[in-house]
Amino acid sequence: MRQSRGVLLPPVRASRLRRGDLYGALRTAVLDGVLAPGERLPSTRQAAADYGVSRGMLEVIFEQLTEEGFLQRAVGRGTFVSSTVSRLSAPAQGQETRRRSPAPSHRGHSLAAIAACREPAVPRPFNAGIADTSEFPWKTWQRLHARAARELGRGGLNFADPRGLSNLRAAIAHYLAQFRGIRCDPGQVIVFNSAQQALHVLALLLLNPGDGIWIEDPCYLGARAAFELAGAAIAPVPVDQEGIRVDLGVRRSPRARIAYVTPSHQYPTGVALSLDRRVALIEWAARNDAWIVEDDYDGEFRYEGQPLTALYSLDSSARVLYIGTLNKSMFVSLRVAYAVVPEEIVEPLANIRTQMDGFTPAVRQMAMSLFMDEGHFSSHLRRMRAIYGAKRATLVEGLAPLAARGWTWSSNPAGMHLLAAHERGDYARAVAASSALDLALLRSYRIARARDDGLLLRFGALDATSLRAGIAELVAVANKVKP
Ligand SMILES: Cc1ncc(COP(=O)(O)O)c(C=O)c1O
Repeated sequence: MRQSRGVLLPPVRASRLRRGDLYGALRTAVLDGVLAPGERLPSTRQAAADYGVSRGMLEVIFEQLTEEGFLQRAVGRGTFVSSTVSRLSAPAQGQETRRRSPAPSHRGHSLAAIAACREPAVPRPFNAGIADTSEFPWKTWQRLHARAARELGRGGLNFADPRGLSNLRAAIAHYLAQFRGIRCDPGQVIVFNSAQQALHVLALLLLNPGDGIWIEDPCYLGARAAFELAGAAIAPVPVDQEGIRVDLGVRRSPRARIAYVTPSHQYPTGVALSLDRRVALIEWAARNDAWIVEDDYDGEFRYEGQPLTALYSLDSSARVLYIGTLNKSMFVSLRVAYAVVPEEIVEPLANIRTQMDGFTPAVRQMAMSLFMDEGHFSSHLRRMRAIYGAKRATLVEGLAPLAARGWTWSSNPAGMHLLAAHERGDYARAVAASSALDLALLRSYRIARARDDGLLLRFGALDATSLRAGIAELVAVANKVKP
């Protein structure tokens, strides 16, 4: 510490003392109580001499700290540490001195508890239900990304249309007509960063707090979180081999405003919604003036025959809201997804989306539209369909010995995950406890309790070696475990 005619000023280690360093050191000393409230500081002349800097520098620093309320200056008397600082730093009497921030809200707490939405960064068996990036045409993407930036110029650095770039909206409408049997105008397409964001925005626009919503049980947890956040009254509707039990939905929540479904490949069970149920669902929605939210998160990846017709194209009454994502079919950090909705709700949705995070960056959207327009997207899909299909076949083949032990899985040849279910939940749980594998339990996707359980096997990003090793390990563990 340096001696002066006022209090001791803290030393500051620096070969050449700059104003910012000295200002920061003095401010911290005041906040930490090293310079206590009411204490008198040395004169600027004295302090400047002590620190070996100009008096002008000390004048500026003292003035700034005074303006910010850390110091008080009285003409003829000197400069003092402000007495109000004590209220900032000192704990109230009887309180612990440990720093503790206020508690989150009940709502925040329960949303944060839906932690299974957090995906692991490193793919290993079987936590990898995302795109295999080793097969992504990276060079092409880089080239198109650079071209997109060039074409947009500095305009691409400004605000973008919250509905999405017109080129991309047109490219998505064209793709949907060609590959998903969906006829829509580009004006009905709205671009989001993720299917998750589309769910949040739709839920906020369409639901009043307390409105009923059917949610598949088990379900995609991100959807449950979005609808809960909007204050909806969640009506869990069981899923069987034909998908959501429309009859039970009608019985449990006949006046629901929305039914949320994943018809092509139910998440997480993997079943497809049967035609009978599709018709029943659309009829119920029409009778009840309700919406249907169709989350077609991996509808592109069906490995036998044609992709299933989207629910959207079966409905003639404009009540199906279609959500698709490119984060599964391209790569997970792309962050581009879309919804197809009646034109009259595009603007309100875009406004709510703006309130959330503005818009999707234009360069990324432009690159995506070029990728689609030049045919790279459809060739990539064709290629990935073959690759994921082969991985799924390897998995199903490798699991065959477990059928004899009572394990079952959906025969719907689709997607990047497979749910292996077992009637005895304790058995499935004991297998999931194996530290050699990263297995999610069906139970964590359920709303209502059930006796049985299952293991979610997410294989999209696994390479051939780790897929085979994972299967061998899983079969060995399942054969060995005695609950
Ligand atoms: C049913 C379902 N919907 C949506 C998503 C997420 O898509 P996005 O990453 O675009 O939010 C997933 C991801 O696995 C999903 O399983």
